[in-house]
Amino acid sequence: MEMESLRELYVDELKDLWSAETQITKALPKLVKAASNPKLKKAFNTHLKQTERHVKRLERIFKELDESPRGKKCVGMEGLIKEGQELIKEKPEADVLDAGLIAAAQHVEHYEIAGYGCVRTWARQMGEDRQAELLQETLDEEEQTDRLLTELAESEINVEAAEEDEEERPVTRSRSKQASKRGASRNGGSSDEDEDMEADEDETDEEAVGASSGRSGMM
Ligand SMILES: [Fe+2]
Ligand SMILES: [Fe+2]
Repeated sequence: MEMESLRELYVDELKDLWSAETQITKALPKLVKAASNPKLKKAFNTHLKQTERHVKRLERIFKELDESPRGKKCVGMEGLIKEGQELIKEKPEADVLDAGLIAAAQHVEHYEIAGYGCVRTWARQMGEDRQAELLQETLDEEEQTDRLLTELAESEINVEAAEEDEEERPVTRSRSKQASKRGASRNGGSSDEDEDMEADEDETDEEAVGASSGRSGMM
């Protein structure tokens, strides 16, 4: 489809978001099940209810626009959800998995934040103030969720996952796979602080270094 107007681009991005949100409503119950920390389970459950509202808000906008929400698959969200599922399949230790689930969920939130920020701005530019307001409400909830996940990660979940590192340290050299999983989970919570990484700098396992290097300083 050739896009000739901002309105067409707007509808196309709304379809992408609707597809993303419907995929998230199916993925979140799996995150609830996989999480161990009760606060994290609750956060995922709360966001599932919010996500159902996000789908409804988008459908309201489609109705106003006299367009269908269908017809586009959000492959970006499909990939992000797949990454989360792969993490669960690896069966990491419970606290480490929680840290990884936060990272996976924050990737999803940031994708949504980017999309909603764009459509909100385009709606304003086109004079669709009511739609812009609805999109802003969703955007606010995505941002709140992202902040809540960071708080949970920083206040307890990353701390608990790092304690696993302490307990496992004496045997890490013969268990490189475990070390690599820990590396992948280190930055969950999108904290800019590298304190917990410094604590691990004596780790010489190559897989662990490789797994963490691509993720450090992200977000
Ligand atoms: Fe959402
Ligand atoms: Fe979300």
